[in-house]
This record gives sequence, C-alpha cells and structure tokens, in this order.
Amino acid sequence: MRIDIVTLFPEMFENILGNSILKIAKEKALVQYNLFNIRDFAENRRCVDDRPYGGGPGMVMKPEPVFTLVECIEQQANTRPKKVLLTPQGKRFSQPIAIELAREPHIMLICGHYEGFDERIRTGLDVLEISIGDYILSGGEIPAMAVIDAMVRLIPGVLGDLDSPMKESFHDGLLEYPQYTRPAEFRGMKVPEILLSGNHQKIREWQKTQAIKRTLEKRPDLFNKKI
Ligand SMILES: C[S@@+](CC[C@H](N)C(=O)[O-])C[C@H]1O[C@@H](n2cnc3c(N)ncnc32)[C@H](O)[C@@H]1O
Repeated sequence: MRIDIVTLFPEMFENILGNSILKIAKEKALVQYNLFNIRDFAENRRCVDDRPYGGGPGMVMKPEPVFTLVECIEQQANTRPKKVLLTPQGKRFSQPIAIELAREPHIMLICGHYEGFDERIRTGLDVLEISIGDYILSGGEIPAMAVIDAMVRLIPGVLGDLDSPMKESFHDGLLEYPQYTRPAEFRGMKVPEILLSGNHQKIREWQKTQAIKRTLEKRPDLFNKKI
C-alpha cells in the first residue's frame, strides 16, 4: 500500500512512522509512506492560509496549494488514490472503515490546520471525510496517525500472527474477552481456572461468553448494532 500524507507539519510523522508496527510494515515493503508539505506547493512558498470571508476567528487553509499538491500526486502516481480528508465533521472512524481502507492500494490523507479547510477543498476533491471523534484537535496530523496505525496493522503480513486482528475488539462487533499472562496469581488476584485447564474448546466458549458479557456491560450500543 502506498500512503501519501498531505500536511503542513510533515516532521510530526517521522517518529510515529519510524517505530513499532508502522516501521515493521515499511521494512517488510508492505507499505510506502510519502510525506508532502503543502507549503512547498504554495505560490510564494509561505501563504497557505488566509482570513475567512465574512469575518470570524482564525485563518482558513487556502484551496490552491492543496489542489496543486493533490493533482501533482495524482498525475505522477500509477494508481488513483483514495483521498481521505481529516475533519471533525466527517464520518466517525471505526474498525469497519479501517478494514475497508486497508484493502486500498493507494491512500492519500489530507490534514487540515488552523480553522480548517476552505470548503472547496471538501467539495472539489472527491474525498472521504473522516473524524476520529467529537472533539477538536489543533490539526489533522494526530487523526491521520490514528487512521494510518489502525489501517496498516490490518494489511496481511504486517502483524506476525495473521489471526491477531480478527480476535481484537470491534472486529466482530464485540469487545475482546479479558486477557491474562503469568503469574497465575498476583497480589491475591487469580487467573480464571478455565484458562489454566488446557481444554481449548471450553476456553474458546469462555472467551466468547466473556466477550458478549463485557460488550453488554461496557458498550451495549455495539451489541445492539450487531443484532
Ligand atoms: C482546529 S481544527 C478546525 C475545526 C473547525 N473550525 C470546525 O469547527 O469544524 C483544524 C483541523 O484539525 C483537524 N481535526 C481536528 N479535530 C479533528 C477530529 N476530531 N477528527 C479529524 N480531524 C480533526 C482537521 O483537519 C481540521 O481541519
């Protein structure tokens, strides 16, 4: 998968892309990350924002440099990228969206900053608008990192255990069952007997029951969606 990141702050990504699973995915040649600075595509290399028409606080990101950059990437690429615009007004990001995006060969993530984008960026670029939740961050960089991380770990071959993403919370609409590791007893808190029994059939049944119980307790909204 090719991932193009369109941002005013490319340096924010260097650490996250150079560590853990995102780094391993790159080393295995399963992903390629390209960082593009919107500023490099502004006419005078500086002016990427301006005051909003009609007044109001802050600065709005100008359409020209973003359009120029996006069109430049599209002209040079062999594949047509799926364009994702990070915006608090977008569709709420979720595991099913991450699963869909992980199937794309080429993704472009467009990060806003300041007061956000000139509306024509949203309407003129054929984008999927994604929000990571009902709160306002200073920029689209942290949301883009969340989307990249959730998506890349689902690309086959990225995680050592192929089954691992399938067992995690949200994959089948349920939260994950409780997990334990050694020691079997810690400060008087014991690992459930069943997990020490070696009976795999019974363990799977226990895990399924726990996942359902936990989802009903903590996130009944997920369970309601499932049935
Ligand atoms: C300060 S926000 C602008 C918020 C905008 N004025 C509004 O009220 O909708 C600047 C940028 O951060 C990003 N952003 C902030 N919160 C976000 C969220 N919850 N999900 C996705 N992107 C977000 C977007 O790219 C946005 O353009």
